[in-house]
Amino acid sequence: MLKELFIKNIRCLVQTEDVPKLKISGADMSRISSINNAYLYISAGLITDFGRMIELQKNKIPIKNPEVEIIDATGRFVFPSFCDSHTHLVYSGSREIEYTDKIRGLSYAEIAKRGGGILNSAKILHETSEDELFTHSIGRIDEIISSGTGAVEIKSGYGLNLADELKMLRVIRRIKDTRPIEVRATFLGAHAIPEEYKNNRAKYVDLVINEMIPVVANGKLADFIDVFCDKGFFSVEDTERILMAGIKYGLTAKLHANELDYSGGIQTGVKYNALSVDHLEFTGDEEINSLIGSETMPTLLPGSAFFLGMPDPPVRKMINAGLPIALASDYNPGSSPSGNMKFIMSLGCIRLRMLPEEVINAVTINSAYAMGISETHGSIARGKVANVFITKDIPSYEFMPYAFGSNLIETVILKGKIISRIT
Ligand code: NIG
Ligand code: FE
Repeated sequence: MLKELFIKNIRCLVQTEDVPKLKISGADMSRISSINNAYLYISAGLITDFGRMIELQKNKIPIKNPEVEIIDATGRFVFPSFCDSHTHLVYSGSREIEYTDKIRGLSYAEIAKRGGGILNSAKILHETSEDELFTHSIGRIDEIISSGTGAVEIKSGYGLNLADELKMLRVIRRIKDTRPIEVRATFLGAHAIPEEYKNNRAKYVDLVINEMIPVVANGKLADFIDVFCDKGFFSVEDTERILMAGIKYGLTAKLHANELDYSGGIQTGVKYNALSVDHLEFTGDEEINSLIGSETMPTLLPGSAFFLGMPDPPVRKMINAGLPIALASDYNPGSSPSGNMKFIMSLGCIRLRMLPEEVINAVTINSAYAMGISETHGSIARGKVANVFITKDIPSYEFMPYAFGSNLIETVILKGKIISRIT
């Protein structure tokens, strides 16, 4: 049986909700509710109760029960775990040579010639056994768990043929079965055009639609379907064909959109009721207007814009237009070799000029929405899964994004169990 946890004397319990919302939009993003000098009660893996310490007596928490482990969080903050709604963390090999080449000023074509890019990761993945791929990937999972992430979306897309795409998706399923982190899987067969289809993209799209999607969906290996809908990759027409096929098989759309150009990806995502459209460096008035009133979460990936030196999306304009914003890491070997969501919060503040409250909403409840789990994750609410972390002794919640290089997480609790504790 799961032990019950009672966390007392919490300096500040952050992101509490009495009436849970599925997402937070516009001006509401600059508000979070939190309770000073609080307690949090966890039972059977769920958040059962929380409140102010002085109100404890009347709420009759059974703290004398020997089955209840008591944690004294004096001086510490408790946050809901981060939700990271966009990663490619199942991969083998790294691409630091490409990174150095970029620093030296080499072009994308030169880099590809020297073995860079998505196709290079696909080649390495092809040569890696499923067990090795799992071993490489689980190391990254353990790393993100210890840095505060409690739910993660992971994409395929370094396979680019049926066998290797399935290998990736099986590794994702194995991660799900072996670690307490919440996992959602996305099929991204349309991540890049393999060399042999370079002059016949439509044929590769046919392969994705006719051979890959049915096997992936029938094997229940993915929750979502994604396409890299951008200049030089897949067109709006390709994207529509793939999304329609995926939706027919019960997969929900999520899109890579508008990273390299005004690609039409955002509008296409909205048209197919995508759960999220991600990247969005090229977002103008037309794109913003299409998102207004939709159910699609605009998701920004400041780690990759930072790493690649890309322009930043117009976040203030988007929030002023009443949109919600989620932030995710895009953890991948080519454009964002980090899954550190605390650093993503800092980039949100420093690069995107988002307020600390806005980034907290963006990495918790809104990112949970972007992976379809905000009913159960993304805030401190009664009945939600007890995924939380306790910080070190810090002065304020603003200190989290402010102290961008410090590890401030002391204790990680997932599904009501203590996973790691720095003493
Ligand atoms: O989200 N934009 C497309 N795909 C990845 C990059 C993947 C890679 O370079 O390996 C991204 O940034
Ligand atoms: Fe991505």
